[in-house]
Amino acid sequence: MIRRLYSPGLVIILAAAVSMPLTATAQVDAAAAEKIFKENDCHKCHHETKAKKGPSLKKISAKYKEKKLDEKEAIKHMTSGKKVKLDDGTEEDHKIIDTKDVNVQTSVAKWMLSH
Ligand code: HEC
Repeated sequence: MIRRLYSPGLVIILAAAVSMPLTATAQVDAAAAEKIFKENDCHKCHHETKAKKGPSLKKISAKYKEKKLDEKEAIKHMTSGKKVKLDDGTEEDHKIIDTKDVNVQTSVAKWMLSH
């Protein structure tokens, strides 16, 4: 009986059972982050793959990976309202996300950089 408890099959089942709720939480976070992104009209300039007025999420992720930047830099960008050049050549102050909650900002930043 004790030997059965330690059988590799059971260990795998247990590991799957333990990791399942974690996966579910991560999915909910991504959905919540995307919702905030849309509510803030970020998607009007940032498409997942296509360039709009601003760079696509894929492009931003690639740039961050290449320059070894992380979500802190992205948060700075979405909270400081610095001047940016749009795709059509005009300049405007970058949109400031309408939450001061660092946890929310972090999940939006991480979601953006996961593309
Ligand atoms: C009016 C268009 C517009 C809207 C709306 C907009 N952005 Fe941007 N965003 C830009 C442009 C243009 C850039 C590129 C700026 C640059 O490279 O200097 C950019 C760049 C970024 C970057 C990358 C900065 C970097 O370091 O390269 C992040 C992160 C970002 N935006 C987040 C957001 C979030 C979050 C929102 C919603 C709260 C948002 N943006 C809404 C136009 C927009």
